[in-house]
Amino acid sequence: MIIKAFAGSNSSTSINKQLVTYASSLLNKDQIEILDLDDFDIPTFDIDIEKEQGFSDDVKRFYQKLVDSDILLISLAEHNACITAVFKSYMDWCSRINYKFLEGKKVFVMSTSPGGYGAKNSLEIGSKLITKLGGDILVDFSLPKFNENFAEGKITNEELNRELILKIDEFRKKI
Ligand SMILES: Cc1cc2nc3c(=O)[nH]c(=O)nc-3n(C[C@H](O)[C@H](O)[C@H](O)COP(=O)(O)O)c2cc1C
Repeated sequence: MIIKAFAGSNSSTSINKQLVTYASSLLNKDQIEILDLDDFDIPTFDIDIEKEQGFSDDVKRFYQKLVDSDILLISLAEHNACITAVFKSYMDWCSRINYKFLEGKKVFVMSTSPGGYGAKNSLEIGSKLITKLGGDILVDFSLPKFNENFAEGKITNEELNRELILKIDEFRKKI
């Protein structure tokens, strides 16, 4: 079973990357590769670039990372009540290679933000996109008020931590 995890963010201090890394540790499977969108040099999707240059090596590399996985853990950052531009753009590029490139992937989708809504707009919009691209979302989780509820690599609020542990257990049973 090949498992990959990443945040829908290109921030070097991404709180969603911290959350998805913690969730990956709870899943406790041997090999989970944590990807970072910042490790790929992919421009905002542009049909003219696609026509003139095709798919760059980094688009193909990112696409292949996802296609070569069975399980995905994704934590979606929120910008202006929406998914981030970088996540949307990466999905757009991959969808041009194969529209249903997430077909057969079992997905745990998360979100967090410093606010009380925990980036649930992004969770909802991102989930629609992932489903449209063929992904099978089995469980989701949102962590509100990241700065109050997360420290030193883990969730500090007991109730929220228990909720995530239960959801990871539920996900483990379904995969
Ligand atoms: C342009 C911009 C718009 C934002 N809009 C929202 C928003 O609508 N809702 C929200 O909860 N947080 C919003 N935030 C705050 C982000 O949740 C916060 O920056 C968070 O750290 C982003 O996740 P990341 O660290 O994983 O990139 C916004 C931040 C930026 C820079």
